[in-house]
Amino acid sequence: KLKPGAGLEELEALAIWGRKELDLAEQEMPGLMSLREEFGAQKPLAGQRIMGSLHMTVQTAVLIETLKELGADIRWVSCNIFSTQDQAAAAIVAGKNGTIANPQGVPVFAWKDETLQEYWQCTERALDFGNDNGPTQIVDDGGDATLLIHKGVEFEKAGAVPSPDTTDNAEFKEVLRVLGQVLEVSPKRWHTVAEQMQGVSEETTTGVHRLYQMEEAGELLFPAINVNDSVTKSKFDNLYGCRHSLIDGLNRATDVMMSGKIAVVCGYGDVGKGCAQSLKGQGARVIITEIDPICALQAAMEGYEVVPLENTLAEADIYVTTTGNFNIITADHMSKMKDKAIVGNIGHFDNEIEMAQMDKWLEEGKVSKTNIKPQYDMWTFEDGHSVLVLAEGRLLNLGCATGHPSFVMSASFTNQSIAQIELAVNNDKYENKVYVLPKLLDEKVARLHLDKLGVKLTKLTQEQADYLNIPVDGPYKPEHYRY
Ligand code: NAI
Repeated sequence: KLKPGAGLEELEALAIWGRKELDLAEQEMPGLMSLREEFGAQKPLAGQRIMGSLHMTVQTAVLIETLKELGADIRWVSCNIFSTQDQAAAAIVAGKNGTIANPQGVPVFAWKDETLQEYWQCTERALDFGNDNGPTQIVDDGGDATLLIHKGVEFEKAGAVPSPDTTDNAEFKEVLRVLGQVLEVSPKRWHTVAEQMQGVSEETTTGVHRLYQMEEAGELLFPAINVNDSVTKSKFDNLYGCRHSLIDGLNRATDVMMSGKIAVVCGYGDVGKGCAQSLKGQGARVIITEIDPICALQAAMEGYEVVPLENTLAEADIYVTTTGNFNIITADHMSKMKDKAIVGNIGHFDNEIEMAQMDKWLEEGKVSKTNIKPQYDMWTFEDGHSVLVLAEGRLLNLGCATGHPSFVMSASFTNQSIAQIELAVNNDKYENKVYVLPKLLDEKVARLHLDKLGVKLTKLTQEQADYLNIPVDGPYKPEHYRY
């Protein structure tokens, strides 16, 4: 299911464009290409039905074709209503040697600018492999596919799905709507799906957080691999990826010069560190907000001012939330900001900025909203001042730009592919818990990306290895090492 309203001709043109971008992206994704070489003949994913819920970008397209080459049967959705690159989705449906009219690729249920209702319907469709089969494995980003299955099982046990009117949360309303429709026709669907599931590999901090919560509560229904906390994921994608794509999103949406401006980054974890660096690189004066004394001290020692958000409202020009937490910038904060302050979020969910309250105020006539262009709105308050909100508070680097570049996503997706192979091949090793990949595999992912950058490693001698009490071929660091 692709771009509604687009005719066959437009979709074919998108597929041709997407294929050219995919061919170029492959050159920048050495980790994935080397997995194709290593495992292409063996097909370790043969017999696996893999459902992916992860931003449908050009880089993800290279991941999908890698998993396919390793033998998997695949269905895909995006994990955000704004993040799909339609040309990538079309190219994946057409496949390498096919067309949209004669598709040889992978079913994709995603387009840029979905409604929330469409988003959850697409997620449900991608979880249906036909003949009463669900996926055997999931590639998740943020945990929405995992959530739908878990909530489905919960309501099947209860014998009913609560009415969507029981919640104020717009997103959860749609979850309930979809699950209600499914329960009517297939009262045991999610039990079957959960039984068939061998595991999920989760891409991001927020999704991993949800998984650990489920594990702690004893509610996790299948094994999970935490890809985010591979060093070659969070210390690269979250940091250098955001350093690249934050500024890209801000520039494409606003075209406002950042040099000399005051920019506030909320949160100084991996994403916050990348965002602060990128704004500093533009010559902005950067202020950090943090709740964690360690991260606050790190920010201070990098030369950033660290204060609560309330202290910045009179002076700051640009705000970026990176916390994975909610209500970081409230509607009340925005009502006190400088005129034309730019407000965006790069954390996984849109509730970092209190847009639900802004929507309420809009209904009550307390604010007005002017759309400047897709994913860029001006909200004006009764006193006449306004703020400019990117991507309706959803992650701005994927909503207003094209997300992280291929090279850094290659490291993330090589981890994803290794996790999927691991779940398929060594499934009996895993219980319904959350695991991280072994350090040797983490080091392997890094190794696969060195040549492209001309990096030449120093070889450890046997004597030095004995002196440090580590193997010559790694792993080189103990588990507790923090990089
Ligand atoms: P992290 O846990 O390393 O950093 C979050 C930081 O926010 C922590 O240091 C925490 O102390 C701080 N924080 C929490 N509540 C706060 C508050 N009220 N005020 C100020 N600071 C607060 O997480 P990470 O890896 O940096 O990820 C952050 C978010 O970004 C997550 O939602 C993650 O899923 C998402 N993400 C988005 C990407 C993108 O491309 N847009 C890429 C990678 C991650």
